[in-house]
Amino acid sequence: MLEVSDLHAFYGESHVLHGVNLEVRQGEVVTLLGRNGAGKTTTMRSIMGIVGKRTGAIRFQGQELIGMAPHRVPRLGIGYVPEERGIFASLNVDENLTLPPVVKDGGMTVQQIHELFPNLQGRGSTQGTRLSGGEQQMLAIARILRTGATMILLDEPTEGLAPVIIEQIGVAVRKLKQRGFTILLVEQNFRFAATIADRHYMMEEGHVVDMIPNNQLAANMEKLHTYLGV
Ligand SMILES: Nc1ncnc2c1ncn2[C@@H]1O[C@H](COP(=O)(O)OP(=O)(O)OP(=O)(O)O)[C@@H](O)[C@H]1O
Ligand SMILES: [Mg+2]
Repeated sequence: MLEVSDLHAFYGESHVLHGVNLEVRQGEVVTLLGRNGAGKTTTMRSIMGIVGKRTGAIRFQGQELIGMAPHRVPRLGIGYVPEERGIFASLNVDENLTLPPVVKDGGMTVQQIHELFPNLQGRGSTQGTRLSGGEQQMLAIARILRTGATMILLDEPTEGLAPVIIEQIGVAVRKLKQRGFTILLVEQNFRFAATIADRHYMMEEGHVVDMIPNNQLAANMEKLHTYLGV
């Protein structure tokens, strides 16, 4: 579904990605793991076309994204939930859910969103800023699901959240996988990643240095600790 080959990315003069290779197949949940500054967010931003400059190839359902205008990427059905979440703080939950443009058929209805994230149900008139961190994260994911995207890029959805909320996000991601969504997930929390992902890519200094299938994660703990520096 998504194939990234020899991807280089630059912010001005600074060369941040040095030939990233990875693949996400239809229906998979795949994580990008790596230390701070490894280039995980930049990989996602490169897919969306919002870095300074990129070279290499990024094929989504056979279409090349490099050279494509950034506003066209979501219309192909790729949704990006950035680390900073991107919800509208001054709008309430319902407004946040009804505002996103539908870019493709098949976006989830508000009712389906409530089934996926029961915490958002009954909170329609609550202002964005008054939501807890977990609710804000759920709303950020929900907004993207409204658009009709079928491939979702999630940047550190569990960051700073309590274990019970992380668990709820995990349940939602598993449900999305069951519904056929394809998910690329940036995580620092590999314990969480291990509960939902099919495969894990390890990033170091702007490269993908390894790929570990989830069922081999336990056997590769030592390697993983080295990559993550934990
Ligand atoms: N807008 C920018 N301009 C210049 N350099 C940047 C910019 N954003 C990120 N970088 C640099 O690019 C490198 C990769 O950053 P990136 O944000 O992709 O890492 P990351 O793996 O997502 O890290 P983290 O776990 O901290 O989120 C870092 O060295 C960072 O300092
Ligand atoms: Mg990041």
